Amino acid sequence: MTTYIREAREEDKPSISRICLLTSNFGTSAEHLHTIGELPGLMWALPYVSLPTTFGYVLVTPGKDGAEEVVGYIVATSDSKKYREATEETWFPPLREKYPLALASSPDLTDLDKFYVNIIHKPFDTPENVLEFSPAHIHMNILPPLQRQGWGRKMMGKVVEHLQEVDPKMEGLWIGVDPRNEEGKKFYKKLGATHFPTEHGEHYILRFSAFK
Ligand SMILES: CC(C)(COP(=O)(O)OP(=O)(O)OC[C@H]1O[C@@H](n2cnc3c(N)ncnc32)[C@H](O)[C@@H]1OP(=O)(O)O)[C@@H](O)C(=O)NCCC(=O)NCCS
Repeated sequence: MTTYIREAREEDKPSISRICLLTSNFGTSAEHLHTIGELPGLMWALPYVSLPTTFGYVLVTPGKDGAEEVVGYIVATSDSKKYREATEETWFPPLREKYPLALASSPDLTDLDKFYVNIIHKPFDTPENVLEFSPAHIHMNILPPLQRQGWGRKMMGKVVEHLQEVDPKMEGLWIGVDPRNEEGKKFYKKLGATHFPTEHGEHYILRFSAFK
């Protein structure tokens, strides 16, 4: 077996969650910054595997024992507004019970855990001008051993292709980035994305016509 990309499935969720934890500190591991390691994945990755309008791909490589190992992912929605509605209807309610807001003042949690508990209860709003540009957005992460070998570009290519099939009139997608993630921004620029000024947060847009 060689390394390859396939559609993300339910059973990939534990691996996707782990990859998210190992890359969510603006591109590097956030493992040491959490007591609840599942929080980043619950916010930025797992809902995109199962909710309406979402889809994703994983990067799979032979593991030590020859079994498949998921080492990267790209997840997306073709409709950020519907995605947001779906998270409010089905994704966040059980998480809000599991992680009540009162936990955000518990001394047992790290500052970053608390940040996630807060945004589970009050997720970020996407700036209107971003949503006007495109309904589609992505999140992607690949573990260090498989970085810089062309897989990120290939995975983005899969998403671009799929979105153009979903809606041939769609012109691009957007990406919310951690302002501190300089490496991630270099990658997106290499693929043809450009910075998109917004009222809050940092956003890049990738026009399909500019994708390279
Ligand atoms: C960012 C990431 C998804 C890129 O995927 P990748 O497989 O490493 O990137 P690729 O090998 O496909 O690179 C595509 C191009 O971008 C360039 N590139 C990738 N990472 C880069 C970096 N850190 N600095 C400069 N250029 C970079 C590559 O050199 C290549 O350029 P080329 O056109 O000259 O060939 C991956 O490195 C990653 O997951 N990093 C850690 C987590 C992260 O930052 N995720 C993004 C969250 S917003």
